[in-house]
Amino acid sequence: MTAQNLRQPIVTIMGHVDHGKTTLLDKIRTTTVAQKEPGQITQAIGASIIPKNVIEKICGKLLQKFKFSVNVPGLLFIDTPGHEAFTTLRRRGGAIADLAVLVVDIAEGLKPQTIESLEILKGSKTPFVIAVNKIDRIQGWRADEKPLSFLESFQNQSSFAQRAFDESFYKVLEQISRHGFGCDRYDRINDFTKTIAAVPTSGKTGEGVPDLLAMLIGLSQAFLKKQLLLTENVQGSVLEVKEATGLGTTLDVILYDGTLKKGDYLVVGGKVPLVTRIKALLEPAPLKEMRVEKKFQPVEEVRAATGVKISAPGLESVIAGSPIRATKSMEEAKKMFAEFQKELQKAEIVTENEGLIIKSDTIGSLEAMEVLFKEFPVKEATLGSPSKETILRAEANKDPFHKIVIVFNLPISDEVRKVAKDRKINVLESNIIYHLHEEYVKWRESVAEEMRKKELEGVTKPAKLRLLPGYVFRASNPAVIGSEITGLLRAGCSLIKPEKGVVGKVMQIQKEGKTVLEAKSGERVAVSIEGPVVGRQIVEGDILYTDVTTEEYKKMKKLSTFLSDTEKHVLQEIFELKRKTDPRFGL
Ligand code: GTP
Ligand code: MG
Repeated sequence: MTAQNLRQPIVTIMGHVDHGKTTLLDKIRTTTVAQKEPGQITQAIGASIIPKNVIEKICGKLLQKFKFSVNVPGLLFIDTPGHEAFTTLRRRGGAIADLAVLVVDIAEGLKPQTIESLEILKGSKTPFVIAVNKIDRIQGWRADEKPLSFLESFQNQSSFAQRAFDESFYKVLEQISRHGFGCDRYDRINDFTKTIAAVPTSGKTGEGVPDLLAMLIGLSQAFLKKQLLLTENVQGSVLEVKEATGLGTTLDVILYDGTLKKGDYLVVGGKVPLVTRIKALLEPAPLKEMRVEKKFQPVEEVRAATGVKISAPGLESVIAGSPIRATKSMEEAKKMFAEFQKELQKAEIVTENEGLIIKSDTIGSLEAMEVLFKEFPVKEATLGSPSKETILRAEANKDPFHKIVIVFNLPISDEVRKVAKDRKINVLESNIIYHLHEEYVKWRESVAEEMRKKELEGVTKPAKLRLLPGYVFRASNPAVIGSEITGLLRAGCSLIKPEKGVVGKVMQIQKEGKTVLEAKSGERVAVSIEGPVVGRQIVEGDILYTDVTTEEYKKMKKLSTFLSDTEKHVLQEIFELKRKTDPRFGL
């Protein structure tokens, strides 16, 4: 395998906001510019390319130390924003990447978007290295004038600074290990397939930049060679769909295989596959031309791996994240189009069955969702935002667990939200696939609980009344007596007296002069009972119970998690009482 037929590995930089991703990338770029080597870095759309000779220059000593040479033509870096609002961009960056660098501030450790990035990497199975960044801020740390490798710089530190470094560094690594990723300082690892490499870096001083680049090169060449092999098949992925002045809708594409030429047929996959012809390929203009407001300059062709802006008619319906292909022949383009359509048909599920409705942005994510939700029946899994009809189809589901639409990474119109709300259809949405599954399982639990609660609503709850001596307000029609309640007493239920059976029905409950619907354990209330006469069927000091039927008893036994301990206790007393006269009670 020669160097010629390998492309640059695509490396995405991810991590929490302000942990230093862009500064680190800038440092890599300025260091490279500072090297004044021929073959300067290229600023492509959404990406920067660091060529091989520059990498060799920066990592020279380390390459000798680790005994390998650079066989790839360079590295293509994609920066992603760390702010929480940019999950989609992070995810897309993560999905395109061959490799990723997870940047973690050594003082701050893991933060929400670091964890989110870890989840994205786990989901896309992208290998990654960790840059434990801002090491220049370690107490007592001293940086050299010229940027050094971490290994050199570390040797030059005082033992105090070394100890302070180790403490913070290993704290970060421990946090990452807790998320299921075993990791260690990169120079202490024997098996890179089992342990994730952590490289200490500073975007400010440039320390560790050689180590980071050497690691990325080493890992790419050891494990990714197959996927870096260049062919003539054009393959790319849409990073963003953008309006550009004078150009209309354009696609920012990361091209990872083949050569793209102006005039080629461009075939885009996704919800509505399309064929169009490339009107212009655009790259960011060099700095001096940018000043005269010519932001992009047209080029005739671009070769993988790179980022490029594509202008062509009819790109309005393209969804970011969609795959692209291209060819010179119309026949080929038709075939590619048909393949995308077939892929779409294979990925989409449309049935009239009872089950979940899943909506997703790209074929890849749709397939991932289908795998993730495989334990549940799926009625429909299709690309694109949910419509009013989607909500109505969810409503047509009979099972309450299916009255839901699960949406991955798609916008939802206010109109659709309103229909969902009116129809009581839950819309579950997230930009992280795993969250959708977790949330759905949680939601099912809450629906189940709601159902169980509803089932218990009409049931006579177990309650015990002690008729308080000296509190007979009325002897009959109805009898009104002050009572102490254990359990839950509701108006309307019948009361039984041990050995005597049913003695009457609770008409009303009054608490501090006000009518209430129920009385709880420990409360003293005035209960009006239709039926008995005080002094005959009932007397002061009597204990009465609510008259629970056998069906109600069985229901409550089944759903006993919704009864309080006191209620359970009173229910048991009622059971024993009932059993005396009815040996089949509760069976
Ligand atoms: P977002 O793109 O907003 O997610 O942030 P980012 O991760 O790209 O961080 P950025 O590079 O913008 O750096 C954030 C702040 O940290 C800036 O003020 C940088 O100057 C500072 N910073 C970045 N790296 C280092 C470093 O290694 N050492 C020190 N001391 N400061 C750093
Ligand atoms: Mg940044």
